[in-house]
Amino acid sequence: MSNCVYSQVEHSNYNGVVPEIASRTHLKKITSICDYSLKESKVKRKNLTGIAYSQGPGLLGSLIVGSCFAKGLSLALNIPLYSINHLEAHVFSLLIEKENNFKFPYLALLVSGGHTQIVLVKSFNDVKIVGTTRDDAAGEAFDKIAITLGLDYPGGHKIDSLSKGGINSFVFPKSNMPNLDFSFSGLKTAVLNFVKNNQKNNQNFVENNLKNICYSVQNIIVEMLIEKLLLACNKYNIKTIGICGGVSANSYLRKKILDLKTKGFIVNIPKFEYCTDNGAMIAFNGFLKAKYNIKSSHFDIPFSKQFINR
Ligand code: KG4
Ligand code: ZN
Repeated sequence: MSNCVYSQVEHSNYNGVVPEIASRTHLKKITSICDYSLKESKVKRKNLTGIAYSQGPGLLGSLIVGSCFAKGLSLALNIPLYSINHLEAHVFSLLIEKENNFKFPYLALLVSGGHTQIVLVKSFNDVKIVGTTRDDAAGEAFDKIAITLGLDYPGGHKIDSLSKGGINSFVFPKSNMPNLDFSFSGLKTAVLNFVKNNQKNNQNFVENNLKNICYSVQNIIVEMLIEKLLLACNKYNIKTIGICGGVSANSYLRKKILDLKTKGFIVNIPKFEYCTDNGAMIAFNGFLKAKYNIKSSHFDIPFSKQFINR
C-alpha cells in the first residue's frame, strides 16, 4: 500500500555509515515518514491491526529508535507488536509478490552490505543458513573497491552503472573457500594492489580504465556468488532460487540469475524497491507472523549481530 524509504545521503562524505549520524537522523525522520506512509496508503492510525519493526541485526542506535517508536505505537493503539529479524525479512521478501510458481522449499542468496549467505528456506518456520562469508560481505567488497577507485560510498550501484560501458579486460583472483562459504577480502586487497602497481607507471590508470575495472570486478563477484549458489542447488537438490538484499539490485547478477531459467530453474528476482533495506519487507514479515499468531514481547531488545538459524 505504501513503501517509503528515507535515504540518508549524509554518510557519503565519510565513506561509510556513521552510526551516530544514522541514529540521530532516524530520530528526526521516523515520525514524519510514518505519517507520510499512512497518508499515502490512506489508512488511519486507528485502523492499524499490528506494528512490525526491525529488531536487528544492524546499527544499535538506529534500531533502538525504531524499536521504541514501534513499542510506543503498539501500546498507545493497543495493537500487537512483531519483532522482525531484518535478514529473515530479506529472505521472505521473495514471497511478497505472488507471481510465478515460486514456493517452498527454496534457496535464497542473501547479499547485502553486511551479509552474504545462502539460506535454505523449507517453510516459514524452517530457515537455515547453509553457506556464509568468512570475512567481507559482497556489498562490502563492492563498497570498499569503489572507494579504492575513488567512487562515493555506497559504491555498489556506481560500479554497476560504470560496468555498462566496459569489458572484462582484467583478471582478478577467485577465492577458494571450502563447502558453500564465501570470502571477499582477498579480492578487495588484490584490487588495491593492482591499482597501486599500475598507478606507479600511470597516475591516471584508474580514470583511463575505470569502466573496464568496474566490469571485471563485478564479473568476478557475480561469478563467485553464482558458483556457490549452484553448488547449493546441487547439494540440496533444489531448483527454486531467489536473490535478496541490496546487492540483488545489481544488474549483472540479476541477468545471470535470470539466465538460469533456461536450465530449468524457477527464479525469483524481487523488484528493485524490495532489494535494498525497505519497510515493505518488514511489514510483510509482520503479516506472516500475525498469520501464524507469533506475537512479540515489548521486552524484546534490539540486537546488532545475529544469524538466522532457528
Ligand atoms: O540490504 P542493504 O540495503 O543494506 C544492508 O543491510 O547492508 O544493502 C546495501 C548494499 C551496499 O553495500 C550497496 O553497495 C549494495 O547493497 N548495492 C549494490 C547495488 N545496489 C546496492 N551492489 C551492487 N550493485 C548494485 N546495483
Ligand atoms: Zn539489509
